Amino acid sequence: MSDNVVAFARSAEPEPTKAGKFRGLLESPDLEFIMEAHNGLSAKIAEEAGFKGLWASGLSISTALGVRDRNEASWTQVLEVLEFMSDATEVPILLDGDTGYGDFNNFRRLVRKLCQRDIAAVCIEDKIFPKTNSFLDGDQSLADVEEFCGKIKAGKDSQTDDSFSIVARVEALIAGWGMDEALKRAEAYRAAGADAILIHSKLRVADEILAFAREWDNRCPLVIVPTTYYATPTNRYRDADISLVIWANHNLRTSITAMRKTSRQIFEQETLIGVEDDIATLRDVFAIAGNSELAEAERKYLLSDRQETNAVVLAASRGSALTAVTKDKPKCMLDLHGEPLLRRLTRSFNAAGIRDITVVCGYQADAVDLPKIRKVTNEAYEASGEIESLACALDRVTDSCVISYGDIVFRDFIPDLLMDSEADIALIVDAASPEMRRATPKHTADLVTCSRPYSDDVFLDEAPITLRHMDPELSPESAHGEWIGLAKVSGAGARHIHEEVAAMRTDGTATQAGLPDLFNRLAARNVAVEVIYVVGHWMDINDAFDLARARNDF
Ligand code: SPV
Ligand code: MG
Repeated sequence: MSDNVVAFARSAEPEPTKAGKFRGLLESPDLEFIMEAHNGLSAKIAEEAGFKGLWASGLSISTALGVRDRNEASWTQVLEVLEFMSDATEVPILLDGDTGYGDFNNFRRLVRKLCQRDIAAVCIEDKIFPKTNSFLDGDQSLADVEEFCGKIKAGKDSQTDDSFSIVARVEALIAGWGMDEALKRAEAYRAAGADAILIHSKLRVADEILAFAREWDNRCPLVIVPTTYYATPTNRYRDADISLVIWANHNLRTSITAMRKTSRQIFEQETLIGVEDDIATLRDVFAIAGNSELAEAERKYLLSDRQETNAVVLAASRGSALTAVTKDKPKCMLDLHGEPLLRRLTRSFNAAGIRDITVVCGYQADAVDLPKIRKVTNEAYEASGEIESLACALDRVTDSCVISYGDIVFRDFIPDLLMDSEADIALIVDAASPEMRRATPKHTADLVTCSRPYSDDVFLDEAPITLRHMDPELSPESAHGEWIGLAKVSGAGARHIHEEVAAMRTDGTATQAGLPDLFNRLAARNVAVEVIYVVGHWMDINDAFDLARARNDF
């Protein structure tokens, strides 16, 4: 370790605990916001949106469990939900602890359990167990001030993380006891050790909250819940020196609206076709659940003796029929639904378990700025062909390796087919393509003839299908398919590729040659180049029409 590294390691501040992060929000000079969540999923979604903290709402957790906000769910059931929320996120959680689930003794046990589970803070309200939601007409009787202060003290004495916060919620305005009572109680709770005061109101306007804040004069951080006075401009809370705003139930309410609409629609239409485009994709569901982390862990812990497959993507060209949109970027960086074509490609590879991706750039190489790729540049891209680009990354083609064009899009099952192949060299060939190319002959296509054409029983026959010849000049009528620009080699296949590229360099053909020339030379040497047939589900991007079609279809 160099001296610099040692110095840095010594000076680095330890990351604050979740409790420390929440205390930071309370004490921040800026107005801060936390968002309601009621399970692991909503917690993740609020965190993903950017919230620095979460409100584990009693109303929302109860409703999501199908019970009323009246302590019908036991406190250990709430704790279970909290544990999922906390495990799923990095941001601190403020638990809506209702009245503390009993007397001082129940509350101090709760505080110890919350510290054990890395919950940052708890809010308790000065009402009577079982509590009634503040917006309902039921019993809103207030707790005895002395008794409630004892509860706060017991909680503070029991916390095992110094930064853990107890927020005391004053319900005097809700119960109709007036401003003086609210201020008197808030001061008593502050003196008992509360780290912040939550002043609650059920008015449609923020008047009594703002009046309270004026009188309170920042004696300790003030927290508000603008559920009923939602129309008040947020800047008024900034001006009133309020510390923290809780958006208290909006993930629950939006989920009710969305679930109701989808359930009704499916029930009435007896098909999924009407809802599919309006709901999260399964890919999104798997991503939120963190499946990519599991796949990575499996590679680390489960498949350590299996060779990792890497990828080399050839993306040096500008795209001759796309000059208007490729002034400052290569074709592979053109936008497809808010992300570059190449990003879509690398995501598809990642989904197939391929993480080590080398991109050979050329035209506007600096514009290829995606995370988690290795970049090499074919400086002579204008005067050379694909083999020279491949040669720039030949040191990456040593073992199981996917070689891909950079201007293609395909459904995720296609790289999976390649990954399942044990051939030394395998190509994905679209059997439907010659038919299509007959209709639109304007672009060159890597048309192929194979040892067998595609047919219904092609998957029943165990005998491998191999490449005979690949040639853009082949007539669509005589072709069996089109190579889509995706190949995979094994270690032995990689050695064949190295030998053949060296031979092409020796005989002077390497500079202008393309990948089809390479595969033809291998096939001519009787190296088996296996063909895996697909029927559609991919596109290459040659011109603006292709791009528009890809945006529609992918
Ligand atoms: C909750 O979210 O459960 C609350 C806030 O306690 S409120 O519903 O506004 O009382
Ligand atoms: Mg509540």
